Amino acid sequence: MPRLLIVHHTPSPHCQEMFEAVVAGATDPDIEGVEVIRRPALTVSPVEMLEADGYVLGTPANLGYLSGAMKHAFDCAYYQLLDSTRGRPFGVYIHGNEGTEGAERGLAAITTGLGWAQVAETVVVMGKPTRADVEACWNLGATVAAQLMG
Ligand SMILES: Cc1cc2nc3c(=O)[nH]c(=O)nc-3n(C[C@H](O)[C@H](O)[C@H](O)COP(=O)(O)O)c2cc1C
Repeated sequence: MPRLLIVHHTPSPHCQEMFEAVVAGATDPDIEGVEVIRRPALTVSPVEMLEADGYVLGTPANLGYLSGAMKHAFDCAYYQLLDSTRGRPFGVYIHGNEGTEGAERGLAAITTGLGWAQVAETVVVMGKPTRADVEACWNLGATVAAQLMG
């Protein structure tokens, strides 16, 4: 069964709300035949990254870049993923309070290097997620999961 891996760093209730909405979208009953796995960015292994067929990456913006946790996940897996995962679909959500451009740029550079295919617009939320933000996260999870349906 195709596998969607949600790699996330979730240090606060606002990030948790976004994460839960992404999971809810990805696991919607209308999306059949896709296994959805969630792993914290600090503990996901390169093998788990390799064995997935698509990805949702969720991170806060920290110090003008993606979180150290998300960077750690790619620091550990980048060369294992390179060339073996080209073309795989992915989506991104980012939470911040000041400015998320550096995080967006950082993730774009990593995923471009890997040759992954972004299949949904990046969801950026500042401060408390609105209802529309939560819906956007739900749609993100559903859109990437739907790409993996047989
Ligand atoms: C050390 C540190 C650095 C941060 N740097 C940024 C930043 O560069 N840009 C930004 O938008 N938010 C920044 N933030 C805010 C985090 O993105 C925010 O705390 C996180 O998304 C959780 O959201 P919440 O605090 O509203 O629950 C930073 C937070 C911390 C703790």
